[in-house]
Amino acid sequence: METKLAIPVVGEDVDEAIKQGKAAAKTADIVEFRADFVRQITDADIEQFYQQIDKPVIFTCRPQFENGHFKGSEKERKQLILQAIKTGYEYVDVEYKSDIYESLLENSGNSQIILSHHNFEETPDYGQVKNLAAEMSKTKADILKIIPTANSINDNFKIFRLLQSNPNQKLISFCMGIYGHISRVLCKKYGSYLSFAALDKNSQSADGQISVGEMQGTYHFNSIDQNTKILGVAGEFAENSKSKYMHNPVFENIGKNYVYLPLKVQSGRDLDNFMDNFHRYDFAGMAVTIPHKEKMIKYMDELDKTAKEIGAVNTVVKQNDRLKGFNTDYVGAVRALENYTELNGKKCMVIGAGGASRAVVFGLVKKPARVTITNRTREKAEKLAKEFGSKVIDFEDRNKVAQQFDIIINTTSVGMYPDTDNTVLETFNESTLVMDIVYKPLKTKFLQLAEQAGCEIITGEKMLVYQAMEQFEIWTGQRPKFKIMHKAFSNIPE
Ligand code: ATR
Repeated sequence: METKLAIPVVGEDVDEAIKQGKAAAKTADIVEFRADFVRQITDADIEQFYQQIDKPVIFTCRPQFENGHFKGSEKERKQLILQAIKTGYEYVDVEYKSDIYESLLENSGNSQIILSHHNFEETPDYGQVKNLAAEMSKTKADILKIIPTANSINDNFKIFRLLQSNPNQKLISFCMGIYGHISRVLCKKYGSYLSFAALDKNSQSADGQISVGEMQGTYHFNSIDQNTKILGVAGEFAENSKSKYMHNPVFENIGKNYVYLPLKVQSGRDLDNFMDNFHRYDFAGMAVTIPHKEKMIKYMDELDKTAKEIGAVNTVVKQNDRLKGFNTDYVGAVRALENYTELNGKKCMVIGAGGASRAVVFGLVKKPARVTITNRTREKAEKLAKEFGSKVIDFEDRNKVAQQFDIIINTTSVGMYPDTDNTVLETFNESTLVMDIVYKPLKTKFLQLAEQAGCEIITGEKMLVYQAMEQFEIWTGQRPKFKIMHKAFSNIPE
């Protein structure tokens, strides 16, 4: 059974609802008419909407006790639902918590009844969710809908387990909320009867609903099936990562059945539990970001040399249930620079001494290039320089000595939007190769000045793309094309 995609329409009057419904019908398999959004809905509205939409339609009139907007009595609500059945709506949604569902099940006409249960607080234990499904399946409902709220990424796996254990039941299940994001996509892999997507960002009918553009354009929802392997980026604020825009377009290009998702994993027990689920479910690997890179080490069965040296993992691959950790953070900078020049023996000035600087210095020293670090807080530069055998110059002297270097790299956030008028350096020698790690804007003040001085410049997104290419190859064994990832990066929506 192929999971269908439904788009809810949330117009406040029937004309607006029809307008949205027609737009939704272009991409959705099924349109859901959220009649509770319409002020003072009438029988005529119900008929008119149905006649105008040439896709199967779900009629839903959510009461306030189930987070809906319908303000009338239950008797009135029942009449409207009966009108939808009479009109011939393919599906009608009725709440398991209501007192009217039993009589509607007896009078369902030719409509299929979706018996729905929402939990806006949490996702109960698997046992409880399973019991709820068993109880609901004793009714005459055609389709069950169980929608809890995820408070952790791990809640999603309870729902995947529920879907897997009920393969013959028509069951719609995924989690609401920001932590439920992955379930709205992956419920297709696990056989949910439906998933829902919003027509656009402003038309969400439920918390955490993904827009149809993102569902299909970014995640290729239509291509997901039970064999799809899962990849993603695990981080506390993974939802801000842009990496999904770079990886997902390439899977299609090389004909591999993967999907790449943000994995919003919290620290502590949440990470422990997630790693159990990472083993248990169909993950092929993941990228790791703040704050899990160091902690990831203890979950690995094997570490590559670089991850060991750096003491942090940013890439995990799962093969035969063994986890191997890599660190590719330094690769992007090195690859981006090597497109322009040999690094061996070059005199490099690295500005900044934070996490990004550490990866860049590590990569340069490995070549080996000759590295000098300068940083606003001198002690941090000294600490880093000691670790890697580099030199330090005073931050005040940076403009004076800049002309002596073959390569200069800014690893600070200076010049990043909205601080676009600032630059960490003003003096450049035309023979210096200049790179910025800031990529918003692409051409920072720092790079503009360098370009004006006649330098070759490397914009910040190149590092990200080369880094992503390296990870992609670790997961899939295939080298992606720079051009495809770079173009995808350039087209990232705001
Ligand atoms: P990241 O992980 O991105 O490298 P970080 O570890 O917070 O972030 O490091 C930020 C770097 O930018 C540091 O080198 C910081 O200098 P300090 O060590 O003195 O804090 C540098 N930085 C940030 N804002 C700066 C500014 N306005 N002027 C100069 N350096 C700045």
